[in-house]
Amino acid sequence: MVSYKELGLVNTREMFAKAVKGGYAIPAFNFNNMEQLQAIIMAAAETKSPVILQVSKGARNYANSTLLRYMAEGAVAYAKELGWEHPQICLHLDHGDSFELCKDCVDMGFSSVMIDASSLPYEENIALSKKVADYAHQYDVTVEAELGVLAGVEDEVSSEESHYTRPEEVIDFSTRTGCDSLAISVGTSHGAYKFKPEQCTRDPKTGRLVPPPLAFDVLHEIEKKLPGFPIVLHGSSSVPQEYVDMCNQYGGNLPNAVGIPEEQLREAAKSAVCKINIDSDSRLAMTGAIRKYLAENPSHFDPRQYLKPAREEMKKMYIHKIVNVLGSNGKAE
Ligand code: G3H
Ligand code: 13P
Ligand code: ZN
Repeated sequence: MVSYKELGLVNTREMFAKAVKGGYAIPAFNFNNMEQLQAIIMAAAETKSPVILQVSKGARNYANSTLLRYMAEGAVAYAKELGWEHPQICLHLDHGDSFELCKDCVDMGFSSVMIDASSLPYEENIALSKKVADYAHQYDVTVEAELGVLAGVEDEVSSEESHYTRPEEVIDFSTRTGCDSLAISVGTSHGAYKFKPEQCTRDPKTGRLVPPPLAFDVLHEIEKKLPGFPIVLHGSSSVPQEYVDMCNQYGGNLPNAVGIPEEQLREAAKSAVCKINIDSDSRLAMTGAIRKYLAENPSHFDPRQYLKPAREEMKKMYIHKIVNVLGSNGKAE
């Protein structure tokens, strides 16, 4: 048993309380490799933003769970080396799908876990989420649970259809599970293809797809039912068109990729939404930069040569999110 406190990590309790009060959101960035982690820590340290490092089941399978945990521990030391005196870094399990997986993460030093039982029937979702919360709370590890179903397809997370969270269930769900934050479904979805073209309109000037707006009415009803309770938005990448174009221009094929417009995320961050999950934008920034570099430098084969601009691009993107979308800069001085 390793306590996250020994690793210099923090849970989400205090960061969320401050974010809800201050009308901003904490970035939750997924990482699977060293370059993503370096870019996240450089961005957070430079902007003095609290940050949540998210590890999915897929990331554990890809990179090895023990290694990822040590990388997060190393990230705290690295942040200090970069001049961030009091880093506020949370290590969070993203989309935990069983009690055993959540327990394993608690036991190995995660400071926060998500139990995603949202695809189960309501009472089963409550029972599993409560079991995880009861276990995690013994070690002061915070727990995110989910109510409602997001549409979209990811490696480990898939659902054909979305079902908005029902505001009439949120009080009962949060009270009975004891969860510390609640992920809701209000129209976001995972991946780089968040909406089908037929769900969108087209911008007459650019010809780009314009997605339908998020269900702010549902979000506001949830806020009214649970005043001050931390709400989480998954599937919140904006799918920046510059990265989609960069991928496509240099040999990629990402037709009709579309995300959540940043103005809407900005608005959500001012509400009770205090954690915004971003993974796809990092994938797009990295892939776009690597494709461009390799196309322009066909004789290069040292991975450091093409991973360096990819890391720079991700760092730029993370800083942009922190400063211009979530507003979490300067909140962890
Ligand atoms: O919500 C899902 C995250 O983007 C993680 O994706 O399961 O492919 O690692 P992954
Ligand atoms: P995106 O696919 O929109 O980046 O969402 C990531 C996410 O929700 C991770 O849990
Ligand atoms: Zn998610």
